[in-house]
Amino acid sequence: MNASAQAASAIAYRAGARSGRPSEGSPQAQASPAARRLRVAAASWFVVAALGQLLFATYIAGFYGRMTVAGHPERWNQVMPRGYVSGDVFFNLVLGLHLAFAFVITVGGVLQVIPSLRRARPSLHRWMGRAYVVAAAILAGGGLTMVWGRGAVGDLPQHVAISLNALIILACAATAWRHARARRFDRHRVWALRLFLAVSGVWFFRIGLMAWIVANRGPAGFDPDTFSGPFLTTLAFGVYVVLPLSLLELYLRAQRSCRVGAQYAMTAALAVLTLVTAVGVAAAAALLWLPRL
Ligand code: HEM
Repeated sequence: MNASAQAASAIAYRAGARSGRPSEGSPQAQASPAARRLRVAAASWFVVAALGQLLFATYIAGFYGRMTVAGHPERWNQVMPRGYVSGDVFFNLVLGLHLAFAFVITVGGVLQVIPSLRRARPSLHRWMGRAYVVAAAILAGGGLTMVWGRGAVGDLPQHVAISLNALIILACAATAWRHARARRFDRHRVWALRLFLAVSGVWFFRIGLMAWIVANRGPAGFDPDTFSGPFLTTLAFGVYVVLPLSLLELYLRAQRSCRVGAQYAMTAALAVLTLVTAVGVAAAAALLWLPRL
């Protein structure tokens, strides 16, 4: 902590001591039982999400990586209707790079968020951070090129939603990088978390869709043949644009707050989210990922 941050923390602590209750962000507020439960709830969600993301990475390497190394990129089309197009060298390369960096960013994101690894190996964290930002830019740029240059699964609203996701990824990557270079680590941490959640949009989409299909015992609110409909539009804008970043904002506010009610409400919300995430991961693993390995 630098000198001004230490001073601010001391003033906050004393203000809380004078009023007889912990002030916002003070050490007392951070160490209260409600704050501890909030931290445990966030860590529990992250453990479930990290396992789910590693399963997604295993699928990317085990299916796309294996098919590519075996010299059969045309088998990508077992999943994507127009994945590999014979003779279309440019877009095949863009998609190949997209898949390779999808693996790198999914594994890298999980490693970057683990606090003990960050503290134990700061130089590794810095190098992986640079690679993560470059991978994010390649994925977002390549994704936009494919959606608007070649066409993708889904309809126009879904294409608009994932394109907004790409712009959010680029903005978060640039801002996280800028704060890290200027050594403003508190702000870097917040923007890096935003980047991690924005990059996870495609993963949220897959686990959200699978949780929905399991809950409804089949497709509901969309047409599986055209892959369009009100549910998919809502899911796309929800996971690509609105929900993850809004929930992170609420979490950060609850973490800084000294209001026990706010912290317990966020803890309860995280417990529900952990359950939904676990259901989505199990369903996506069973229906989408493991059968391809
Ligand atoms: C940043 C994290 C991202 C990851 C980890 C990721 C991962 C993947 C994966 C694994 C596939 C293969 C399809 C599958 O097996 O599920 C894929 C395909 C694709 N991705 Fe991404 N992606 C990301 C971001 C984006 C973005 C931001 C866009 C668009 C702006 C995009 C557009 C596409 C397109 C067009 C395809 C081809 C399949 C289709 O027609 O929809 N991706 N991506």
